[in-house]
Amino acid sequence: MTLSPAQEPAAGATAEPTAQPAKENTKTLYGGTGSRRVTVRDVAAAKGRGEKWPMLTAYDAMTASVFDESGIPVLLVGDSMGNCHLGYESTVPVTMDEIALLSAAVVRGTKRALVVADLPFGAYQEGPVQALRNATRLVKEAGVGAVKLEGGERSAHQVELLVSSGIPVMAHVGLTPQSVHAFGGYPVQGRGEEAAAQLLRDAKAVQDAGAFAVVLEAVPAELAAEVTRSLHIPTVGIGAGAECDAQVLVWTDMAGLNAGRVPRFVKQYLALRELLGGAAKAFAEDVVGGAFPAEEHTFH
Ligand code: KIV
Repeated sequence: MTLSPAQEPAAGATAEPTAQPAKENTKTLYGGTGSRRVTVRDVAAAKGRGEKWPMLTAYDAMTASVFDESGIPVLLVGDSMGNCHLGYESTVPVTMDEIALLSAAVVRGTKRALVVADLPFGAYQEGPVQALRNATRLVKEAGVGAVKLEGGERSAHQVELLVSSGIPVMAHVGLTPQSVHAFGGYPVQGRGEEAAAQLLRDAKAVQDAGAFAVVLEAVPAELAAEVTRSLHIPTVGIGAGAECDAQVLVWTDMAGLNAGRVPRFVKQYLALRELLGGAAKAFAEDVVGGAFPAEEHTFH
């Protein structure tokens, strides 16, 4: 390592490592550039600045690289891969092996984004030690910068052990899709006085346990706004109104790749299913009609 003149110890002095003051984070999360990855400290600084930011899911290296190059600062390797990538009916069957494999791909495909991996159903419900074992695997094996798990008060002990072990945690309250069987579907959460008070307690519990952010899913906008005002960590809304600090969408919903009914909270920015289907049909017709390969695609 070469020391710059300012860092060089004076003659006779020993080169003791000195604590460097943390570089101030003045760059915006979205639109900011930089040669290093976004960290949870950058996320905290954005809340301090009152800055809103976007998060998308990603399940493979190539798509992740597109989002990374587009400046999306946080990518979630969500267990929504179950329904949106792996062909399951819900997030419930997703395994640690599947999350680890796809998380590693997303990390390899990105340079700047903070990559957060979901702990799938069954990977942390047994308790904090199980959560730590599985989260450690995602950090060491896949290289993610943080993990996400579902639950408020019920998961606070897990959050606490992970955070005290050096693993940043994004929590997820409100509609927690891994509990689809208990909910009997995907109903809006936090409606009514008691449910709203519980949701606020859940969000505060994960904040107190050390979570760096909390996803609020399918929550009335007024309640999400109150939670956002009450917390010092950022809220990441999905179907939780406009007042959250950040917004997340499942990328296949956002891009219009998923078939079937689109939830009310989704905005589709592209009709990718139609576009891709059109491209596949054009290719097929070229093959059948002999237009592909043409001379320019041919070796001699
Ligand atoms: O798995 C996922 O994609 C999620 C988001 C919907 C927040 O948890």
